[in-house]
Amino acid sequence: MKLPDLTILDEKDKRLRMVSKEVTFPITKEDKKNIQDMLEYLKMSQIDELREKYDLRAGMGLSYIQIGIPKRIFVVVDETEEQKFENYVIINPKITSMSEELIFVGEGEGCLSINRETKGIVPRNARITVEAYDMEGNPFTIRVREDLSVAFQHEIDHLNGILFIDKIDPKNPYKNANKMREI
Ligand code: NI
Repeated sequence: MKLPDLTILDEKDKRLRMVSKEVTFPITKEDKKNIQDMLEYLKMSQIDELREKYDLRAGMGLSYIQIGIPKRIFVVVDETEEQKFENYVIINPKITSMSEELIFVGEGEGCLSINRETKGIVPRNARITVEAYDMEGNPFTIRVREDLSVAFQHEIDHLNGILFIDKIDPKNPYKNANKMREI
């Protein structure tokens, strides 16, 4: 397997602060290629041998703005069982409902654009419902929970120019941890 040629922006790049624009259909051939490359990159980053071979960090999600293009597209690759991967391609997402229950990732969230140690909790809704479009422009609704819910919220934040580190209080990075569930 060859690593797709993707340049992922670092947090210092101001483009990560842009609010991405709604996508119009049909999407271009280039978009389709980028989406395939992003999915492939994430999958490879989750396979131990390939991660080591290409010196990658494991990633579950990538937003289009992370490759420098301000379109409302993100992808998530979820390893559901050993070396089995579920791909999600989400275009023009809207969160239509969210659980009251909050969760946070105990080991901390990560981001392929943030290449340093970060500490602290990022409150997320345990479950969300999202309306979006697939690559062919067909609308669909998806309900996600737990780590997938975190990943979706993390990526939707990217589309609005928000990074997970923005949500951590530097003075008190574990604030309110007792009020939400750790996953
Ligand atoms: Ni990220």
